[in-house]
Amino acid sequence: MKVVVVENYDEMSLRAAEIVEQQVLKNAKSILGLATGSTPIGLYGKMIEGFKNRSVSYEQIKTINLDEYQGLNRNHPNSYHSFMYENLFKHINIQMRNTYLPDGQARSVEEECERYEALIDRIGPVHLQILGMGTNGHIGFNEPGTPEGSLTHCVELDESTRKNNARFFESPDAVPTHAITMGIASILKSDRILLLASGKKKAPAVKKLMEQQVSEDFPASYLWNHDDVTLIADRDAYQLVE
Ligand code: F6R
Repeated sequence: MKVVVVENYDEMSLRAAEIVEQQVLKNAKSILGLATGSTPIGLYGKMIEGFKNRSVSYEQIKTINLDEYQGLNRNHPNSYHSFMYENLFKHINIQMRNTYLPDGQARSVEEECERYEALIDRIGPVHLQILGMGTNGHIGFNEPGTPEGSLTHCVELDESTRKNNARFFESPDAVPTHAITMGIASILKSDRILLLASGKKKAPAVKKLMEQQVSEDFPASYLWNHDDVTLIADRDAYQLVE
């Protein structure tokens, strides 16, 4: 794992955007793996700036998102479909038909998980996967206890995850209890992975990650089993690493 420590959130976002832009310039038909949450919002902002000010084009790329809440209509303001549209897709020249997220309202969740994994295999591998990390070490919604061989599956969200994500909802009870997420093995199929971490709230998780002990108790540790991962952490997130 390559580790880059930067000053703050803005610099983390800028460094990440440079890597995304290099990828897209190298291959206009890049497949990007995308995440939601607070962490990548700055990156998406820099990508939008690059599109507007430096003509970086996303016209031919395809995107595959990590996860979606179960039970939310894609037009619900807190769905990850809406998140991606509002924070990135509507601002750049991506073709919406080339953007993929799990369908949180599929009639059969099992079939949806199979369909999504097959889609990853058909249009992938993802060239560059963007990841954030939960305070409990989750990546995607792979909570502690998820096996390394897991493919796209339905998960019951940890109470800590629901609490952390309650800030986006009108009340903590409104946070869905389940989600569909790419599994660990689905994520590790990516050619290259960029893990972002910002803020002191993530410091214990970054410290744990850097102990390099691969364990299902801390899913981000599986990233040590991939040979092309870059962690970009800001000083606050990295402060507990000796
Ligand atoms: C989002 C996702 C999650 C988040 C993680 C961190 O698609 O898969 O793993 O990356 O929960 O969330 P933030 O960035 O809000 O701290």
